[in-house]
Amino acid sequence: MKQESHVKREGFSSSIGVIAAVLGSAVGLGNIWKFPYVTGANGGAAFILVYLLCLALVGLPVMLSEHLIGRATKSNAVTAFKKLEPRRPWFLVGGAGVVSAFLIMAFYTTVSGWVYAYIFKSASGALLTTKPQETTQVFNSLVSGVGEPLFWQVFVLIVIGIIIMAGVTKGIERATKFLMPMLFILLIIIDIRSLTLPGASAGLSFLFKPDFSKITVSAVLAALGLAFFKLSVGMGAMITYGSYVDDRENLPKMAIKVALSDTLVSLMAGVAIFPAVFAFGFKPDAGPKLLFIIIPTVFNSMPLGRIFMVLFFLLTAFAATGAMLSLLEVPIAYLTEEYQWSRRRATLLTIIGIGLLGSTATLSNSLLSHVLLFGKTFFDFFDFATSNVLLPLGGIFIALFVGWQWNFANVKREMTNEGQLANEGLFNVYMFLVRFIVPIAIIIVLLTGLNFIHV
Ligand code: PFF
Repeated sequence: MKQESHVKREGFSSSIGVIAAVLGSAVGLGNIWKFPYVTGANGGAAFILVYLLCLALVGLPVMLSEHLIGRATKSNAVTAFKKLEPRRPWFLVGGAGVVSAFLIMAFYTTVSGWVYAYIFKSASGALLTTKPQETTQVFNSLVSGVGEPLFWQVFVLIVIGIIIMAGVTKGIERATKFLMPMLFILLIIIDIRSLTLPGASAGLSFLFKPDFSKITVSAVLAALGLAFFKLSVGMGAMITYGSYVDDRENLPKMAIKVALSDTLVSLMAGVAIFPAVFAFGFKPDAGPKLLFIIIPTVFNSMPLGRIFMVLFFLLTAFAATGAMLSLLEVPIAYLTEEYQWSRRRATLLTIIGIGLLGSTATLSNSLLSHVLLFGKTFFDFFDFATSNVLLPLGGIFIALFVGWQWNFANVKREMTNEGQLANEGLFNVYMFLVRFIVPIAIIIVLLTGLNFIHV
C-alpha cells in the first residue's frame, strides 16, 4: 500500500545515514544514565539477563513492526494507522505516542540539561576530585537549584530546535552520522581505565554473575520498560523514522543491527561505571544520580582525566541530543503533515510546550519536591508512566495491529521488499512473536508488575 504524495517528502539519504539515525534514536541517556542505575537498583547481572530477554522477544519485534508500518505508509505515527486502517480507531495508538513523546521529553530534557552543565563543570575543574562526597555535593547543588537547571533545560531545547528545523537529511542524519562513532571510541577508553582500577573485579561480577534471588516482579517490569525506552519503541518514533527509510533497505537486518549495537553501548557504559562504583566504595543503587557522581571519580583517577571527562560529557550530550531529535520528530512530523504547519512553527510550539511541562520535572528536586502524583514527584512520574506503562501499552497495540489487523500478505510484502529478500523463516518467527508472545508477555508483566507496585 504505497501512497504517492505530490509534495516531495524528505528521507534519509543513505544506508549508513539510516543506521546512524535509527541508532542515534536508540542510543542516548538510556544507555549511559538509565541502564546503569536501573541495573544497579535491581541487583545487576540477573536483571541484565531478564532485560536481554525482553529486548529480544518483545522490544525487537515491536521495533521491526514500527519500521514496517512507517515505511509502508511514509507517514507520521498517526496518519500511518489511518492509511492502513481507515475504518477503525487504530490511529489513537499513534496519538498516544505523540503524548508519550511529550512526557518523555519532559524529564529527558531535565537530565540532558544536567549533562550539558557537567560539560562546563568538568572543564572548569569543579569536578576534579575522587571523593564521592564531593561529587555528590556538586550534583546535589546543581539539581536542587532553580535557575541553573532551568537554564540548561532551555539551552537543550534551543539546540534540538535548531537541528530539527534544519530538517531530516541535513539536520538529523548529518548530526548522528558523526556522533555515534565518536561516542563508541570514548567509551572504549574509559572502559579500559575503569577495568584497570584496583578492585574492579567486584564491579564485573556484579554486572556479569547473575544472582537470581534478586529478580522480583517489579524488576521484571523495570526490565521490560527499559527495553522499550532503550529501543525508542512503543510510541511511534520508529514509525516516524521508518517512514524516512528507503524501500530497498533490509528492515529486519537493520533492526537486529541496531538492537545489538545499542546493547553493546549499554554494556560498555556498565563496564565504565560499575568497577568504579565498587572501587570507590559507592552503592550501586544510588538511583538517577549514579552516573553523575561516579564518572568524575573515574576520570580523576587517570592521567589527562579532565580532558577526557569533558569529552565524555560532551559525547553523552550528543547521544542524548540524537535521541531527543527522534522524540521531537514524532509530534513535528504529525503537526506538519496532518495540519500543514510549517516545520518552523511546529518546532517552536512543540518546544515551548515541552519547556513548560519539563520545568515541572526539573523543579521536582527543589520548588516542587513536595508535589506528588501517585506518590511520585513529577520527574519520577513522567519516567515511570512512560517507560513502564505507556510504551509497553503502545507495544501491545502495535504488535496486535501487525499481527492481527494488517493484511498478512501486505506485512510479508513490506518485510521482504516485495518478495526480493528471502527471509521466510524469519518472517514466521516474527509473526509468531507479534501475534502471541509480545502481547501476552506484556500483559502479564504489566498486570503483575503494576499490581505489585500499587500505582
Ligand atoms: N532510546 C532513547 C535512550 O535510550 O536514551 C530514549 C528514547 C528516544 C525513547 C526516543 C523513546 C524515543 F522515542
